Amino acid sequence: MFLVFPDPRSIAHYVSQLLADRIRANPQIVLGLATGGTMEPVYARFIELATENQLDVSQVRSFNLDEYVGLPADHPQSYAAYMQTHLFSRLPFNPLHCHVPDGLAPDLDAHCHDYSMRIQQSGGIDLQLLGVGGNGHIGFNEPGTPFDSRCHVMTLSERTRVDNSRFFARDELVPAKAITMGLQDIMDAREIILIATGPHKASTLAKYYHNDVTETVPFTILKRHPRARLIVDEQAAARLPAHVCHYPEELAVRP
Ligand code: F6R
Repeated sequence: MFLVFPDPRSIAHYVSQLLADRIRANPQIVLGLATGGTMEPVYARFIELATENQLDVSQVRSFNLDEYVGLPADHPQSYAAYMQTHLFSRLPFNPLHCHVPDGLAPDLDAHCHDYSMRIQQSGGIDLQLLGVGGNGHIGFNEPGTPFDSRCHVMTLSERTRVDNSRFFARDELVPAKAITMGLQDIMDAREIILIATGPHKASTLAKYYHNDVTETVPFTILKRHPRARLIVDEQAAARLPAHVCHYPEELAVRP
């Protein structure tokens, strides 16, 4: 079942409200966070909402999904920098509680192992936010990644590097590798919300609908999760049959 909203703005309102509700109910919540274009309006709206309502985020704990290998945290295209720009520097989060994989870790495999362990030691992720790549990746788990994977280093597919080149300067190469939470780390989250917006995600969502669970379309694994929801806008839903689209009109836009 897909929850279909009119546009990215109404999704941002809905998901921000949900985040705020969850944080109020559990101030020490463990969030799994994503980066990318899809998440920008969500974080922008969440900042407004949290500021208007003086929401206390000081005890929130978070683990980001991924980071490019080889980019320092202060590189403008690193995901650490993205999180600072779009969320962490805008609200009083505790930096000690907000984790992003370290793309410059001297021993990447040890760092990955440690990252998965730290998620588990935190008590596990309560709410995981996801975007989805054009090829169906979640985090940077590219097609073919084993479903039982933990945090690992992934060689990015050509498709992903082309898709993400829009964020980089013209003479700059998209890194070839990234650290990503594994599919098992993601599936361990107690609740998952995947967001997909825009016409370029329509064929990706159609693949989710038409395929059984398969490693060649990584996000199909979410069909096995008891509390995973796919929240999409009308453009992304364009190639889905009507009977799988649910329109939560009453939730669409909260003032
Ligand atoms: C980012 C991430 C990726 C993106 C995906 C979609 O942390 O894990 O899986 O969510 O590549 O990116 P956008 O939102 O830019 O289309």
